Amino acid sequence: MTEYRIASVPGDGIGVDVTVEARKVLDRAAALHGFGLRWTEFDWSCERYAETGKMMPDDGVERLSAFDGIFLGAVGFPGVPDHVSLWGLLIPVRRAFAQYVNLRPVRLLPGTTSALAGRSAEDLEMVIVRENSEGEYSAIGGRHNSGRPDEFVLQESVFTRVGVERIVRYAFELAKTRTGRVCSATKSNGLIHSMPFWDEIFAEVAAEYPDVHSEQCHVDALAARMVQQPDRLDVVVASNLFGDILSDLAAAVTGGLGMAPSGNINPPGEYPSMFEAVHGSAPDIAGQGIANPVAQVLAGAMMLEHLGEAGAARAVRAAVEEVLAEGAVATPDLGGKSTTAELGDAVAEAVA
Ligand code: NAD
Ligand code: IPM
Ligand code: MN
Repeated sequence: MTEYRIASVPGDGIGVDVTVEARKVLDRAAALHGFGLRWTEFDWSCERYAETGKMMPDDGVERLSAFDGIFLGAVGFPGVPDHVSLWGLLIPVRRAFAQYVNLRPVRLLPGTTSALAGRSAEDLEMVIVRENSEGEYSAIGGRHNSGRPDEFVLQESVFTRVGVERIVRYAFELAKTRTGRVCSATKSNGLIHSMPFWDEIFAEVAAEYPDVHSEQCHVDALAARMVQQPDRLDVVVASNLFGDILSDLAAAVTGGLGMAPSGNINPPGEYPSMFEAVHGSAPDIAGQGIANPVAQVLAGAMMLEHLGEAGAARAVRAAVEEVLAEGAVATPDLGGKSTTAELGDAVAEAVA
């Protein structure tokens, strides 16, 4: 029997609650589909930071490198500044393992209501291909003249030819397997260096894919389009920051943040990829047992697919759809009264 070694990093807040539920679902899918998941749990979190001064041990990345996949809950909690917690765990893992694609599928699932009334499942299915290793997320810059009236900070962006080209190419390859349409998020009207470069490389790669329809759209207008005409979008390719913002918007247009999964992918497979929900640790509802575990469960389905277990991944997605469509078990964000565990149990039982 194939056994996959998975590192589980539940992290903070509802990351812990939803990871427990997702693991139940994935374990059942594994048992029914003839493979094993050997989980190793790491307590890397803000709580650990409070005790040790570190989000993860110095050899954390090295320890993760031994796994076939990484299953992450969420990182960040009040008490530790976000730039300390996220740059101490999530962002270094994404970078060390060259997870340069952040893949964020967006679907309006049967039984869920879009914030835009009247949309149905056929009207809304897209995927955000977010650049995940450079761009606006950069440590280059500095704080100067601290404490003086002329104090200022510099925060640089880094766009490399290799980095832009590979993410754009990934989007075009993905579009070939879908509807054959790619839209690039730009902002070359306001950003004078980075986005014209991004657009230039997008046009170069697009020329290699004559069968894929390509267009570019300024990210502000694209945000509006995502709300008003989501049916006109399929694959959306975006820089790190634009992709981050668009993916919360896209989640909101479907059933909310509790529904949106995400994969940090290293396409060559040289390093483990990492799967997580789009949402964070939701301190406002943490510890109440009411977080929606669906996003984390669907992130688990992405992980199974990445491992080569397409049948099990389909079974997990079908179980989610069945439970949502039935509507009897739903967490408060979906308009119901069920707990995280009740929804997790219902999905696990529905896996066939
Ligand atoms: P958030 O995504 O945690 O929460 C935003 C809103 O969505 C909250 O009202 C929350 O209750 C709701 N929500 C999110 N997930 C939900 C779920 N599964 N079910 C029901 N409701 C849900 O964003 P935030 O409040 O901006 O960030 C909180 C912390 O999480 C911060 O420390 C932030 O840096 C961190 N964060 C981490 C990740 C990650 O680890 N991948 C992602 C985003 C934010
Ligand atoms: C996400 C998160 C992270 C990001 C934060 C927590 C650094 O918002 O995964 O979408 O912006 O990449
Ligand atoms: Mn985000």
